[in-house]
Amino acid sequence: MILKDRVIIVTGGSGLIGREIIADVTRKGGIALNADIAVATDLTKNTVAVDISDETSVQNAIDMVIEKWGRIDGLVNNAYPRTKDWGVFFEDIPLDSWRKNVDYQLNSCFVFCQKVLKIMAEQKIGAIVNIGSTYGIVGNDFTLYEEYGGTSPAAYSAIKGGIINFTRYLASYYGRKGIRVNCVSPGGIFDNQHPSFVSRYEAKVPMGRMGRPDDIAPAVSFLLSDEAKYIIGQNVVVDGGWTII
Ligand SMILES: NC(=O)c1ccc[n+]([C@@H]2O[C@H](COP(=O)([O-])OP(=O)(O)OC[C@H]3O[C@@H](n4cnc5c(N)ncnc54)[C@H](O)[C@@H]3O)[C@@H](O)[C@H]2O)c1
Repeated sequence: MILKDRVIIVTGGSGLIGREIIADVTRKGGIALNADIAVATDLTKNTVAVDISDETSVQNAIDMVIEKWGRIDGLVNNAYPRTKDWGVFFEDIPLDSWRKNVDYQLNSCFVFCQKVLKIMAEQKIGAIVNIGSTYGIVGNDFTLYEEYGGTSPAAYSAIKGGIINFTRYLASYYGRKGIRVNCVSPGGIFDNQHPSFVSRYEAKVPMGRMGRPDDIAPAVSFLLSDEAKYIIGQNVVVDGGWTII
């Protein structure tokens, strides 16, 4: 029960990884609030409708949480908004699309962090976990996509690299204020991707399999908890070894 009674907002809590973060935080005693664009607000069910790319919507969601619970002990920036043309080949990315994705995924992280950190600074306690990615650390292996003519979104590398280093900025800035900010960077999570992608991925990654949401969630819970009380600004990589070779 390392998160007993902690009030923790998880953005994108209805998604592949978010669902498992919600379950893990709850199992460990926390009050996990699913802040997602795909839910209706129902505080009896711990769901808060929010569009993380809309500053007013984020403020409303935070206000609702404060009104009911009076504090925010943890925030997990996990939601994953993207444009419809996300994942087109580099040469074909319109500037407007690039801008929108940076706005949806990176700028929204800034907005949520800034608003929640204001509250955490008053509380003099709190923990934030930003969700990065191995593709914020290393370059892409494009051979994974060769057999079926796919690719990987260029903006993702810029956004996730940005989130990982922004985490260090926040950790250093808030270190003396009793607030800890860290990052968890998952490797590829199995989600019925193209079979050739999966087999090439598995052939390369040292642990021989793609990740699962339940590989990721315990690392997030750990960083939210007092077990990690002297850990700030770290990027905990949960990738079965993808980035070690
Ligand atoms: N799946 C992977 O292989 C993988 C690997 C590395 C990192 N990640 C990261 O993990 C995080 C979660 O990814 P996932 O695969 O679970 O994504 P997902 O698409 O399964 O879920 C994303 C969730 O975000 C919600 N969402 C979308 N737009 C929103 C908005 N504007 N406001 C609020 N909520 C919104 C969706 O409703 C959904 O519930 C992301 O940050 C992603 O970059 C995923």
